[in-house]
Amino acid sequence: MFYETAKNNHGLPYDPLKAIIAPRPIGWITSMSAKGEINLAPYSYFNAFSTRPPIVGFSSESRKDSVAFAEETGEFVCNLATYDLRDAMNVTSATLPRGVNEMEVAGLVGEPSRLVRPPRVAASPCALNASGCRRCASTISTVADSIATW
Ligand SMILES: Cc1cc2nc3c(=O)[nH]c(=O)nc-3n(C[C@H](O)[C@H](O)[C@H](O)COP(=O)(O)O)c2cc1C
Repeated sequence: MFYETAKNNHGLPYDPLKAIIAPRPIGWITSMSAKGEINLAPYSYFNAFSTRPPIVGFSSESRKDSVAFAEETGEFVCNLATYDLRDAMNVTSATLPRGVNEMEVAGLVGEPSRLVRPPRVAASPCALNASGCRRCASTISTVADSIATW
């Protein structure tokens, strides 16, 4: 099969791009606004890209709160979303008004991070503290001007 992302002419019920690179880890991103509001949301367009320098990133399909907050403070935490945390992780994907802390809505407890201001999810076994956050975008399609992805 051949298709172009710009045309989406694959004839399949779902966009195959999400399935082609799989499995993808979930970046369960904690971020904090300049006002101190806490946000938590899962991002499957997440990965580590380099060890030296250590680089992690996530991509948001529209300008969601995680992006806005990470840009405001330059920091985020990526909590490892393990199988036993899957239900809480799904709850945190709800679209809630800005400023509502999904961690509390999902019944999760936050703990202070060591190196950044956004808290970590206490129940998660691993939390990557990311700082110096930069926006960086590229595209594999020919419609870069018409998409809104961060
Ligand atoms: C497992 C899972 C993976 C997700 N991955 C992404 C993603 O990679 N990019 C994205 O824009 N939204 C993704 N979402 C949807 C966001 O989590 C959802 O839009 C959320 O409300 C964003 O929250 P925020 O506005 O607080 O950042 C995912 C949802 C789930 C359940």
